[in-house]
Amino acid sequence: MGVAGASAVGITQSSYRVPSTAYPAILLRTREPGTSRFTWGAWLSFRGNQDPYAMLCLPRFRRAACQAMAMIDMHSHILPGIDDGAADAEEALQMLRLAAANGVRVQVLTPHIHSGRYDNTLASLRTAFEAFRCLVREQRIPIELRLAAEVRIGAEVLQSVGAGRLPWLGEWYGRRVLLLEFPHSLVPIGSENLVAWLMQQQIVPMIAHPERNRGLQADRSKLEPFLAAGCLLQITSDSLTGGFGPVAREFAIDLLRTDKVTVLATDCHNLAFRPPALSQGYRCAIQWVGQRAADDLVWHNPLHLLGLAEVD
Ligand SMILES: [Fe+2]
Repeated sequence: MGVAGASAVGITQSSYRVPSTAYPAILLRTREPGTSRFTWGAWLSFRGNQDPYAMLCLPRFRRAACQAMAMIDMHSHILPGIDDGAADAEEALQMLRLAAANGVRVQVLTPHIHSGRYDNTLASLRTAFEAFRCLVREQRIPIELRLAAEVRIGAEVLQSVGAGRLPWLGEWYGRRVLLLEFPHSLVPIGSENLVAWLMQQQIVPMIAHPERNRGLQADRSKLEPFLAAGCLLQITSDSLTGGFGPVAREFAIDLLRTDKVTVLATDCHNLAFRPPALSQGYRCAIQWVGQRAADDLVWHNPLHLLGLAEVD
């Protein structure tokens, strides 16, 4: 889908803006992929007593600015105090600032829904989401938020779908998309039946990080029935950079090179060990499949999923 994007950033004196003297950050002008439009989006933090233009002349800031590409992150655990992601509002806001600095324009929040462990529902998540969105607006963080969920596979999914308790990740060619997670160690027996049932309901599962699943790592052919059924795949940005080890990295690269991946996302959980760093994975993806395909993974396909494709 789509055309090749660009990641140019204006680094002239007229192309930065200090949003608030109290806030130690600058906004950067980014060019939207495939267009000649420039918008104010990414930002970089700096100490309040430093001149922002002088900072941009420093190589490390210039490098960071050049890496600021407009992207959409479809997987994160930033909504605070909900699951094993951001512990509190302050950590969540810092993660969003990092994501914005990394080039993310739309951040999809996907807390876990996992029966018996994280018993979240669409209704409970919506309340937390609206409160957090107000806070983000107050803080003037230049990033748009969307709510979805990462749903652990299990028999209870049938009942939750029927009761309207699950948020959708988006839509893909007229069908709703559910971000579906397997346990980390295996593919449960019965998963194919559940996927077939979801498909009958016009729901397309997007399988989260198959490259990190130990059962699939041991036998990649176990993924075939899900692809044959029409499932979409989402891989984790850090898998491509080697953050989940060489096996996950090689698996992710193989999935990319065989054109099986629809979305690249961070699955970020915190600031220390699982931070939002989509541009690093995006740059790895460019190495393996080229810029045009990499742009699809972090921009064009997410735009389509979120129903925003017409603005591109
Ligand atoms: Fe996740």
